[in-house]
Amino acid sequence: KGMIKKGIILAGGLGTRMSPITKAVNKQLLPIYDKPLIFYPLSVLMLAGIRDILIIVNEGQLKQFKKILPESKNLGIKINFAQQQYPGGLPEAFIIGEKFIGKNNVALILGDNFFYSQSLTAKLIDCTKLQSGAKVFLHSVSNPSQYGVVKINKKNKVLKIVEKPKKHLSDLAITGLYFFDNKVVEYSKKLKISKRKEMEIIDVLSKYNKKNKLSAELIGRGAAWLDAGTIEDFYNASSFVSALENRQGLKIACLEEIAYSENFISKEQFSKLIYDYPKNDYRDYLETLLSN
Ligand code: G1P
Repeated sequence: KGMIKKGIILAGGLGTRMSPITKAVNKQLLPIYDKPLIFYPLSVLMLAGIRDILIIVNEGQLKQFKKILPESKNLGIKINFAQQQYPGGLPEAFIIGEKFIGKNNVALILGDNFFYSQSLTAKLIDCTKLQSGAKVFLHSVSNPSQYGVVKINKKNKVLKIVEKPKKHLSDLAITGLYFFDNKVVEYSKKLKISKRKEMEIIDVLSKYNKKNKLSAELIGRGAAWLDAGTIEDFYNASSFVSALENRQGLKIACLEEIAYSENFISKEQFSKLIYDYPKNDYRDYLETLLSN
């Protein structure tokens, strides 16, 4: 598999748009249908074959994250944790994660981003082959003013990048999944704080773009990208997962299943971890996988 073997999940944030629900519990621990939100971005990294993962959480919330996630050794991966005092913008992930990243290239996924697509795994694996530069995924949205937005030409070359554009630029939002070469650490350290008092990921992307080192790929209209930032998004994502899972009898973002199917763990390891769950639908599902 690919060159990028390290991935960061940025799972901090204040969840202000979802208060009071998020007053005591971090958004990423809340359910999207039958699993905590954090399982979904983690499953994306695992499907990319990324097994060395850093999860950045808010200070004081580490225990809850550790409790809700399966033990990483049971999934055949390594999960490191870091705490963040205050959310200072996406590029902060590369500063907090500097030691973790070392001399490697790295993927970043936002803890509240949900991806679902037939060809996703193949695309992800392709992205992990990135040797130099940066790569972003784009998806068409009806509310581009809420996102980082790009204008591209026919060859997918990025012509312009704007964060939360007030004036319509295009419908193509930059999703919360990024692949970077090691320069991202250096670039992030040199960033200036923006008007909304954060380090901005689009400033990093613009830097790569100026050097002709930014590539963009459309996830395509057969795919779903949702960012669970509001209550409405949570319900929409839950309905989406519920409809698909119940129709197909297959689960989305079932971490144990992915670990097993990706050969991160053996059949013996898989059969053992099933019984960490109490007798319920989730465990029944894992049991059927074992007997298939
Ligand atoms: C962030 C990025 C934005 C990107 C979005 C994806 O926005 O700044 O460029 O499109 O994530 O979810 P924020 O969550 O800070 O509003």
